[in-house]
Amino acid sequence: MDSKRQRVFSGIQPSGSPTLGNYIGAIRNWARDQDRFDNIFCIVDLHALTQPRDPEELRAKTWELSAILLAAGIDPDRSLLFAQSDVPAHTGLTWLLTTITPMGWLNRMTQFKSKAGSDRESVGAGLYIYPVLMAADILLYHTNCVPVGEDQKQHVELTRDIAERFNGLFGELFTIPEPMIPPVGARIMDLYEPERKMDKSRPTGAISILDPPDAIRKKVSRAVTDSLASIRFSPEQPGLLNLLTIIQALTGKSEEEILEEFEGQGYKAVKDRAAESIIEALAPLQQRYRDYERDPDQVDLILQRGGERAREMAEPVLREAQRRIGLRRPV
Ligand code: TYM
Repeated sequence: MDSKRQRVFSGIQPSGSPTLGNYIGAIRNWARDQDRFDNIFCIVDLHALTQPRDPEELRAKTWELSAILLAAGIDPDRSLLFAQSDVPAHTGLTWLLTTITPMGWLNRMTQFKSKAGSDRESVGAGLYIYPVLMAADILLYHTNCVPVGEDQKQHVELTRDIAERFNGLFGELFTIPEPMIPPVGARIMDLYEPERKMDKSRPTGAISILDPPDAIRKKVSRAVTDSLASIRFSPEQPGLLNLLTIIQALTGKSEEEILEEFEGQGYKAVKDRAAESIIEALAPLQQRYRDYERDPDQVDLILQRGGERAREMAEPVLREAQRRIGLRRPV
């Protein structure tokens, strides 16, 4: 890794099957920009524990997600890929940061509000301090940029606040990170409930990255649209806007070019084009994923090496944070 380049850190939870939203909003951008940055990507299995998980399923999903990232083009020679639980410094720093994070800051987190719903008294406390673990992930590696979808922006902003507070109290240690949000596709919506974001936790209205072509065609053909019978990029037509945005993100065409393409046509043409763009974008990834399936140990080895390297990077930073905050310097 090249130290002159800006450091990128991002993470993804091995909860459920990753979606087209994860792909467009995050994964493909990580893969595309690898030569511009000094990259670290993390499978955040500890974050996945904040909602109930079957142990075997969590292990299987961690492997699956790692193989998907590799199949998407994350190259272990250019990027560090590891699992969060392999690096104890993440939990170590989290505790230190929780002690300087006001409850009021966490109370403002919209993801906690939506995930906890009306269940606030009974959800695990981990869901509440989830954003502090995310701050520890980012701050341990002196991260400059955090490439994420729109929904994670608030968490990166909280990370900045926590870093500034720590630096103010104990002296400059942490780099203040910037969120990096893609201009198109930062919030892909659910196909059947286009007012909600596409999410791993609601597979019905989501395209999974590993869905075969027929399943993709079927799901997209049933996507909710409207009765206005007018093709334009308008927030008043959220279902259509989502399909057009998917096409725009995957083809790289401008709004004008896309509207021109559909002149005189109906919603079916948009759906067909969306489905074919998705199938075409995911096909090479799915092909490479099958290669990893035939050689599963290769993925485990990459994670193991990544974990070793990440520990070497993170441990000195945790030790320095412990020293600054007044803990006995470990021998
Ligand atoms: P997660 O696992 O929910 O999502 C991984 C990435 O995918 C993006 N994303 C989307 N983008 C566009 N449209 C969507 N519908 C969509 N759904 C998800 C997310 O914004 C994210 O970039 N808390 C994080 C994981 C995390 C992390 C970190 C991220 C833990 N530590 C440190 C960055 C840095 C999460 O749950 O992402």
